[in-house]
Amino acid sequence: MLGGMQSALNPQGPNAAAIAEISWVLFAGGSVIFLLVMALAAWAVWRRPAFLARHGMIIAGGIAFPVAVLSALLVYSLLRAASLSAQPPPGLRIEVTGYQWWWRIDYLAPDGSVEFVTANELRIPVGEHVEVALRSADVLHSFWVPALAGKLDLVPGKDNRLRLAAARPGTWRGQCAEYCGGPHAQMAFYVVAAEREEFERWREQQRRPAVAVDAEKQKGQSLFLSHCAACHTVRGAPAQGRLGPDLTHVASRLSIGAGILPNDVRTIGAWIASSQHIKPGNLMPDFREFSDDDLHALAAYVASLK
Ligand code: CUA
Repeated sequence: MLGGMQSALNPQGPNAAAIAEISWVLFAGGSVIFLLVMALAAWAVWRRPAFLARHGMIIAGGIAFPVAVLSALLVYSLLRAASLSAQPPPGLRIEVTGYQWWWRIDYLAPDGSVEFVTANELRIPVGEHVEVALRSADVLHSFWVPALAGKLDLVPGKDNRLRLAAARPGTWRGQCAEYCGGPHAQMAFYVVAAEREEFERWREQQRRPAVAVDAEKQKGQSLFLSHCAACHTVRGAPAQGRLGPDLTHVASRLSIGAGILPNDVRTIGAWIASSQHIKPGNLMPDFREFSDDDLHALAAYVASLK
């Protein structure tokens, strides 16, 4: 119950640990007081001790005690939560934009310019503070990786900032946590934390445009350019659509469809032909016009975009 890749009770970094600690302290405090009140209630019912009915008892137990306990818990949680906003300058900045129903992810260079764009998967270096700027392209969404940080909304027209930090290498799952229409429940993503060196290798790879295709993939690429390029970008090919996720290195990601399907030729083909069956209401239409051969060629091209 406490484990898993998407659990606030399994904190994997300092920010999530602070939130988990606050939760446990509040839960423990609430439990102790609940048990105390129940014990007193049972005592009052069965033994009817006279002192429980005294005026002083009502003032002490009904006013003084809750004021003291609640004030103490309030001060504790405010101070502990303050540590979440007072943090060192980030080592890495990422912009996350919520779309119905996927995540665009822009990696920023130190000067603030966009280095590359990816989707539905964040990679971060272990042990470093990452600042995530949260925006929305349409409606309210909410960015939540329970194992790494608290939950923060993506509000149209507003720029919210969240800190992510992972204490160890690993893969965690996040989820849109604010109902945003139709397939809201299928708006997930992954966060992968790796050592700095491995992270830099990934970043270098993502910066590059897609490699030129060999003869075998030509057919798939031309199908892609005629059917998919209006909505999807593949850097290095004449595909610059901005409506859907950037697919330049889509095959390097863990999932497709925003965290809902494993990433392989078969699922890519199924997604192209019948994404409305897999994720009803998403903004990509079913492409049923392809022959089996064409669909396979197209899926193989997409699956080659590593
Ligand atoms: Cu996006 Cu719910």
